[in-house]
Amino acid sequence: MPATLIVGAQWGDEGKGKITDLLAQDADIVARYNGGDNAGHTVVFKGQTFRLHHIPSGILYPGVICILGNGMVINPERLCQELDELASRGVEVSPARLKISGRAHLVLPYHIAMDKAEEAIRAKGAIGTTFRGIGPAYSEKFARRGLRVADMLDKEFPEKVEKALEMANRFLKNVYSSEPLDLSSTVQKQLEYARRLIPYIEDTSWFINEALKEGKRLLCEGAQGTFLDIDHGTYPYVTSSYPTAGGAMVGLGIGPKWVEKVIGVTKAYTTRVGGGPFPTELTDEIGERLAEVGREYGTTTGRRRRTGWLDMVALQYAVMVNGFTELALTKLDVLTGIDPIKVCVAYRLCGMETKRFPLSTASLYHCEPVYIEVPGWKEEISQAKNFEDLPPRAQDYVRLVEELAGVPIKIISVGPEREQVIVR
Ligand code: GDP
Ligand code: IMO
Ligand code: MG
Repeated sequence: MPATLIVGAQWGDEGKGKITDLLAQDADIVARYNGGDNAGHTVVFKGQTFRLHHIPSGILYPGVICILGNGMVINPERLCQELDELASRGVEVSPARLKISGRAHLVLPYHIAMDKAEEAIRAKGAIGTTFRGIGPAYSEKFARRGLRVADMLDKEFPEKVEKALEMANRFLKNVYSSEPLDLSSTVQKQLEYARRLIPYIEDTSWFINEALKEGKRLLCEGAQGTFLDIDHGTYPYVTSSYPTAGGAMVGLGIGPKWVEKVIGVTKAYTTRVGGGPFPTELTDEIGERLAEVGREYGTTTGRRRRTGWLDMVALQYAVMVNGFTELALTKLDVLTGIDPIKVCVAYRLCGMETKRFPLSTASLYHCEPVYIEVPGWKEEISQAKNFEDLPPRAQDYVRLVEELAGVPIKIISVGPEREQVIVR
């Protein structure tokens, strides 16, 4: 198993953290390749809940090395807080266990101010971002004026931060009519974080490739999900990075020859947080029930997630653009007691039925889901250990999803705990 990718097949929060934690027991390295602390990945182990934002979900295994890849954007202040929080809970993260790519870009306080200002300007058309400065940080990266983690090693780092801040303050004042940031205190703080993070900086692409050549096993943990991908998602209601499988190659600096498995993680239903189209959304009591039973509140922002039925048109598109070799189906337990269960198998658009995910985001708002109904089950399933332990109707649901997706479901999650899982 040289490299396995774990990719969100929906709009994020599919349970990637849980699946990564499960598979990390057989990995040597777990690496994040996209996004920043907009991600919130939950790992529940022996009743303790860990919420990770930058740090990969393999961190609870002492023998695993965790990587923050070059495709990420890193907020030094929040990363230091995350390290402190883990330490306070007995997880000491030494530089031997965590390596940060020098090529990753920095998220600085002005990116967050810009994120908030841009959302305010968008008003009704707001994306509903996490206010983590993600869009502005990636914009600067592509405009070729961003600061990178490796800049922390430069003795002129304070001057670089100051210059970037001066420029940002001009935008904040003159374009966004927002408050400018204080130069000296901001520079001072960034220097402190840099001093702390310098020992963790590495050429992670080199590190990972050397490890792969030695036969080490790499797990790549995607953040966000396929429909939040800047190219393949529901633009502009997306994030600014590449959560899809291809993003792992660029975001870690490895070649596709190493990839053996691409695991798509999907809930047994659908959720989305923030704005944008969501064809199978439920605003009735079933939607409410999914949110309450599934505890659908954002790991990063605490916002209630929107909920809906499983959308196979979308899932088939995700299988296609990521080349999934298998799926992990999570939160099957949340469907217990719902009868019948609906599954969207096509969209109706302008009187025509289609199984193709539309090119235009605007038309997605007009897509009416075409459902099939399947009978639900009443039995509690959260203790099931084998596929055969599931009630026949739950087994049928899994087989249906598998058949429609065209790839096998090899992992079924029936609760938040590490042990609440069926591996087929
Ligand atoms: P991620 O961003 O993809 O890692 O997902 P999040 O951690 O943001 O959200 C998934 C939520 O569902 C977390 O609270 C998990 O603890 C929880 N969870 C994961 N798998 C299951 C499951 O099979 N059943 C239930 N009931 N909860 C789950
Ligand atoms: P994980 O890794 C769910 C959503 C935001 C917003 C849009 C853009 O936990 O699955 P951004 O702050 O990235 O500019 O916001 O993307 N979003 C997520 N939704 N899970 C996430 O991460 C998300 N990260 C961003 O809600 O709609
Ligand atoms: Mg999440």
